[in-house]
Amino acid sequence: MSVVFRRNVARMKGYRPGEQPQEGGFIKLNTNENPYPPSPKVRRAILEEAKDALRLYPDPDSTRLRRQAALTYGFDLSQVIAGNGSDELLAMIARAFIGEGDALCCPVPTYTLYETLIRIQEGRLIGIPYPADYALPGALFRSRARVVIVASPNSPSGTAVPLSVLSRLADRAAGLLVIDEAYADFAEETALSLARERENVIVLRTFSKSFSLAGMRIGLGFAHPRIVEGLSKVKDSYNLNRLSIAAGEAAMLDVAWMERNAAAIRKTRERLVAELPAVGFEPFPSQANFVLARRAGGKTAKPVYEALKARKILVRFFDTPRLSDCLRITVGTDGEIDEILRALREIRP
Ligand SMILES: Cc1ncc(COP(=O)(O)O)c(C=O)c1O
Repeated sequence: MSVVFRRNVARMKGYRPGEQPQEGGFIKLNTNENPYPPSPKVRRAILEEAKDALRLYPDPDSTRLRRQAALTYGFDLSQVIAGNGSDELLAMIARAFIGEGDALCCPVPTYTLYETLIRIQEGRLIGIPYPADYALPGALFRSRARVVIVASPNSPSGTAVPLSVLSRLADRAAGLLVIDEAYADFAEETALSLARERENVIVLRTFSKSFSLAGMRIGLGFAHPRIVEGLSKVKDSYNLNRLSIAAGEAAMLDVAWMERNAAAIRKTRERLVAELPAVGFEPFPSQANFVLARRAGGKTAKPVYEALKARKILVRFFDTPRLSDCLRITVGTDGEIDEILRALREIRP
């Protein structure tokens, strides 16, 4: 017997999400979750759905969720696709558009799952380095790749690309432009208008961050009906479970709840940004629910990450040449941010 993986799978590293400690007691500022709970309407909708419907398969098209998304964001139902988190939408895009040798282009550093998905497809990743200020690199506008992906706000930098620039990129793109707006509710602008107007743009949203529902795995894509139809062919047949469909719909019926939380997080973010220099870290301008900050003097941030972890505070450290002097800190509650600032004062990086 011989168990043989496809060569690219055998060679690749799997995607490694940020640590999810299974024991409690951590201040968890490493994977950009929301420190506040979701709307009480979400809990009620989940309990209702859990009563006696669970023995039946869910709606394969997540119609209730998509219909509410269409109403909330001003689209037609045919322009909305739902995913098991926006990660699944990204996987669908890779599956539907990237075959062996096909190119996907994105500015880097960015969300590293993009690279994993391309490796699975045996595609080619063309990563164009962001300049120091994280403005979109000019070469991206000249790319002939089948798919261009821009996360805006970007992770891990937290920086956002102005809508006018994304609009120009959509004009120039040779194929599909994916705008990953996982953090848009914390930002000044959204590119949803491009998804309405252009036939080559898909905008992705997630309920994991602003809606406080990372545990439910809900994502949305907004695009021309032709794109939605094509992507639907490659999704898992029942990609969202009943509880997630109900939870996502209920969350959008209480957008005001989410917006209050997002406003509180933006306020805390500004305080964190203002106070980081005094504890030895220079923040990049953030429009997300996290802040990337560079250790003064360009020294590796790993010992600081470890010292924080020893104090039960988790942040994200990326061991790559460009990011090894940085920490990415999720914006938690004001109390949690007080704790990390106090710890950093003690550690004296
Ligand atoms: C840029 C970006 N896109 C997508 C995602 C994935 O979100 P989801 O939880 O909806 O799969 C993340 C999660 O951290 C992210 O940072």
